[in-house]
Formats: sequence, structure tokens, C-alpha cells
Amino acid sequence: MNGFWMRRAEIETERLRLRAWTMQDMQGFLLFAADPEVMMAAGSKPVLSQEEARAELRRTADDPYAYAITLRDTGEIVGKIKFQRDGARYNVHSVSIGYELAQRYWGNGYMTEALRGMVRHAFDVMQVELVTIGHFTGNERSRRVIERAGFLFDGVTPYAFKRFDGRVFDEANYSILREEYESGAVSLRRRFS
Ligand SMILES: CC(C)(COP(=O)(O)OP(=O)(O)OC[C@H]1O[C@@H](n2cnc3c(N)ncnc32)[C@H](O)[C@@H]1OP(=O)(O)O)[C@@H](O)C(=O)NCCC(=O)NCCS
Repeated sequence: MNGFWMRRAEIETERLRLRAWTMQDMQGFLLFAADPEVMMAAGSKPVLSQEEARAELRRTADDPYAYAITLRDTGEIVGKIKFQRDGARYNVHSVSIGYELAQRYWGNGYMTEALRGMVRHAFDVMQVELVTIGHFTGNERSRRVIERAGFLFDGVTPYAFKRFDGRVFDEANYSILREEYESGAVSLRRRFS
């Protein structure tokens, strides 16, 4: 990723603490990483064995841009969120975001809150010019999270992502530009629709 990337700092929101993963987090990790419904929607393969789980948690703990989403009150892990490369742009300070939430924690607004915290961190600490995000068309829960967090719809990329099982998805793309973030009015406007 480009040179503007910075090492991870913890991110705090009203109810959540986003922190680094460790190898001690296996129990919380498996809540979503072994769940086909969660992982397939995010385009990933669920872990199917202890070996796969250990390898995947190792990769996640080694990723300086992957965060465990934990509840500040209890410390329990509810999901994962990470900064990732924005493959659609060239020579701009852009970052994308991906996430998974364990099903037992759906419906509490946790991911919307985590995503808002990540957007704030991207603009205020990482100093990016824009933040982007996408979901497979038809993933309505993710669409609602993205829109509640203030992203603007940019359009659909057809035939964007071939999953490990060979199924191909169109992707709905969204972004927030720095000027939109700073104006505080992002959720009120749409560029296309
Ligand atoms: C996408 C995903 C994270 C969304 O989970 P979610 O629980 O719907 O999202 P949130 O945690 O933001 O919760 C929002 C829901 O909680 C409700 N809610 C309850 N209390 C809330 C609060 N205090 N604040 C905000 N929302 C609240 C909202 O009304 C909303 O429900 P609705 O969309 O039916 O209106 C989850 O479905 C998931 O992990 N899916 C599989 C992986 C995936 O798709 N990843 C994204 C790939 S692009």
C-alpha cells in the first residue's frame, strides 16, 4: 500500500474499541470466520478446520490494518473490520474498508458505529483524500450500514468479483471525499441516483 499508511492505533467509539488481533482471540474469531453465511457475503471462504483457523487468525493478527471489534463494556469480540487497498484508484491517497460481524451481534448498530470510527480515523489520522467501500449487489444489510455511515453511491461495477467458488458478483461502489467529510453533509447528498 502507498507510503502514507501509518501503523495501527486503537480506535474508540461510544460502545466499541477497535484493537489489534492476537492469537488468543480464536474463540471470538471463529464466531464469524467459521460462519458460511457471514463469510460468503463478504466474498471469503469460511475456515473449515483448526489448521485453517489458526492460519487465518495468524494472517489477521499480522495485518496492521485489521481490527478486532470489541465491546468496551465486556471486552467480547463481535467482529472484524479492516482497511484495505482501493483497487479502483491510481495515485490518490485512498483507502477502502471491509468487515464481518458475528450473526449473534447483528441488529445493534455495532458495524455502523465501527465503520464511522474507521472513516474518522482514515481522514483525521491517516490523512486520506477519500474513503471507499463496496458490497455485492443484493447485500442489503451491508448497503444499509454503508449508507447510514454517510457514504455516497458511485455506481455499480459489473462482473467485479469472482469468489473462490466461481460465482461472479457485481459490486455497488461508494465513497466519501475529504471535502464531504469535512462539510459534515455527506449523508444528505448523492452524486448519482
Ligand atoms: C453487513 C453486516 C455487518 C450488517 O450487520 P447489521 O447488524 O445489520 O449492522 P449494524 O451492526 O450496523 O446494525 C444495524 C441494524 O441494527 C439496528 N440498530 C439497533 N440499535 C442500533 C443503534 N444503536 N444504532 C444503529 N443501529 C441500530 C438498525 O436499525 C439496523 O437494522 P436494520 O438495517 O434492519 O434497520 C452483517 O450483516 C454481516 O456481517 N454480514 C456478512 C458479511 C458482510 O456482508 N460483510 C460486508 C461485505 S461488503
